[in-house]
Amino acid sequence: MTIIRAKDYNEMSRTAANIVSAQVILFPECVLGLATGDTPIGMYNQLIEWNKKGDLDFSQVKTVNLDEYIGLAKEHYQSYFWFMQQNFFNHININAKNVFLPDGLVSDTQNECARYEDRIQTLGGIDLQVLGLGHNGHIGFNEPGTVFKKKTHVVTLTERTIAANSRFFRDTEEMPKKAITMGMGTIMQAKRIVLMCAGEDKSEILYKALCGDIDPMVPASILQLHNNLTIVADDEALRLVRQDAKISNTIKIAAES
Ligand code: F6R
Repeated sequence: MTIIRAKDYNEMSRTAANIVSAQVILFPECVLGLATGDTPIGMYNQLIEWNKKGDLDFSQVKTVNLDEYIGLAKEHYQSYFWFMQQNFFNHININAKNVFLPDGLVSDTQNECARYEDRIQTLGGIDLQVLGLGHNGHIGFNEPGTVFKKKTHVVTLTERTIAANSRFFRDTEEMPKKAITMGMGTIMQAKRIVLMCAGEDKSEILYKALCGDIDPMVPASILQLHNNLTIVADDEALRLVRQDAKISNTIKIAAES
C-alpha cells in the first residue's frame, strides 16, 4: 500500500488525476473503473482540462462505473449515468460506446448484475479503479455487513447512506433505497486501485480501513490485501493514520504544483 498525503482537496485531485493520466498515456486502450460522489469531481475537472489542452486522449479508453441506483432513468438528474455525463464524459473525447454503467431501470436486476459482471470480464477486467470512501466504510455501494459480496449485486442501502445521499434529491423521498454495485471481488480484481479521500469527517473511517482489522463491517478494509493500492488523501482525512507509528513514516508527500 502506498499512501500519498496531499495538503488539501485540490492537491489530492491533481495527484489522483496524474495517476489516471499516466495510465491513459501508457495504455491508451485501458479500462478505467470510475466513481461518482463529491470526492472525484476535482480529479475529473483536472482530467478535462488536460484533455482540452490536447495533453490527454480518451478516444480509446473504456470506462466502467462502480454503481447505479435502481429505479432512476439515465436522464434523471441524480442517476450516476447523468452524473458522469455532466461531470466528465460530456467534456472529454471519450467514445460513448466505450462507457459502461449498470442499468438501474431494467425489470430483471439480477440478470443486469450478471450482464454487467460479464461486460467487465469481456473488457478484460479493470486496469485502474478509482474509489471514494463512504462514511460507513462502503466502497461502491458495498455496505457494511457480515460478508464481502464478490460480484456485481443488488444492494439495499443503509440508513446512513440514504441520509448522506438524499441531500442531493429535491425531495428526499425520491432517493432510491436500492442500487446495483460492483462486488468486492470485482473491485479487488482491478490491477491497480486508487482510493481518494478528503476531509476531517473521513479521518476515522480511513483509519479503520487502513489500520484496522479486515472486517466486512468496514468494507474498504479488504483493500489492505490488494497488491497495488494507492491512497491519495488530504491532511485532514489522514489525521489519525498519521498518528499510527507503523504507517506514518511510509507516507509520501504529494508533489507540489
Ligand atoms: C459512488 C461510490 C461511493 C462514494 C462514497 C463517497 O460511485 O461508489 O462509494 O465513493 O459514497 O462519496 P463522496 O465522495 O460523495 O463522499
